[in-house]
Amino acid sequence: MTTNPTADRHARNDTALLSTPFTSHARAREVIEGVDLAGRRAVVTGGASGLGAETVRALAAAGAEVTIATRRPRSAERLVQELSITGRAGRVRAEALDLSDLASVDAFARAWRGPLDLLIANAGIMALPTRSLTPQGWEMQLATNYLGHFALATGLHAAMRDAGSARIVVVSSGAHLGAPLDFEDPHFERRPYDPWVAYGQSKSADVLFTVGARRWAADGITANALNPGYILTGLQRHLDADTMRAFGVMDDQGNVKPLPYYKTPEQGAATSVLLAASPLLRGVTGRYFEDNQEARTVQGREDEPGGVAAHARDSQAADRLWEYGTDALRTAR
Ligand SMILES: NC(=O)c1ccc[n+]([C@@H]2O[C@H](COP(=O)([O-])OP(=O)(O)OC[C@H]3O[C@@H](n4cnc5c(N)ncnc54)[C@H](OP(=O)(O)O)[C@@H]3O)[C@@H](O)[C@H]2O)c1
Repeated sequence: MTTNPTADRHARNDTALLSTPFTSHARAREVIEGVDLAGRRAVVTGGASGLGAETVRALAAAGAEVTIATRRPRSAERLVQELSITGRAGRVRAEALDLSDLASVDAFARAWRGPLDLLIANAGIMALPTRSLTPQGWEMQLATNYLGHFALATGLHAAMRDAGSARIVVVSSGAHLGAPLDFEDPHFERRPYDPWVAYGQSKSADVLFTVGARRWAADGITANALNPGYILTGLQRHLDADTMRAFGVMDDQGNVKPLPYYKTPEQGAATSVLLAASPLLRGVTGRYFEDNQEARTVQGREDEPGGVAAHARDSQAADRLWEYGTDALRTAR
């Protein structure tokens, strides 16, 4: 029998960690029930599908004005239409953003007008089978998952500062546990490319970004990262049948089916929405959550699964990454 690798890991005497009343399978809307986001403005990257779409639904249903940032705004039309006829939902629109294209990220940030309250860095790609590069020579997963979001956040920094108490939410992954960012060779120029190491290090960089963002605390900006859990979405599109079978989500006939502990997209989006809009998170910054609870720091893959790796919480590494990201963007522009 397949056991839930995430079960009960929060049942511990770790009182310093922030806990909430929500279980691992709470739904996105449930974690902000009663919260009024009218007048608040949000950007959700990758908001046209999967966890992003559920994040958009929950934030808009609470009254926020939401911009879906997607490579293909037309793919968001149905969602925009759905929310335009939903009771008191805030206005939702879709704008073009390609995180792997610095010119596109810069254009999106330049076009933004007014304050920005919530930036949900949700878009991501996973385990591209072969090494693929952006025009800047950046490895595609690091470019999309981390560098593009870093460029976006720095481009929108003034808008978030103007909001007074903006929140950045970065969707990382448990895959960060096995792969610290390799500062010496982030783009696999000297080491063999590995799809999972590339994904994992990009997700470590995502967590480090939220640690480094403590420099924005004086601007009222907080930043937290999360692991959404296991959810079948478009994210698995680069996995072959053998890998899907090894994960236990594909049978011999090729049917794809979630394992019992998998979440629905609506449950998978809950931790993002909690960090974005729950009053429980007011003023909290630089932390990492999973299953709607703050996660403990671990030294690597330990006997118990889950947690956040010490390598992703290291403030020196976070500062080094901030410098690295800033230099990379400056050079590319
Ligand atoms: N599903 C899981 O089990 C799981 C587990 C851990 C972490 N996560 C993380 O959760 C986040 C959401 O993933 P998901 O599961 O919802 O998968 P998904 O449905 O594939 O959503 C990913 C989104 O990223 C967007 N995207 C990809 N490349 C982009 C680019 N260059 N520029 C702009 N947007 C881009 C895609 O939008 P367009 O193609 O429309 O542009 C898509 O909407 C990701 O960061 C993923 O790493 C998911």
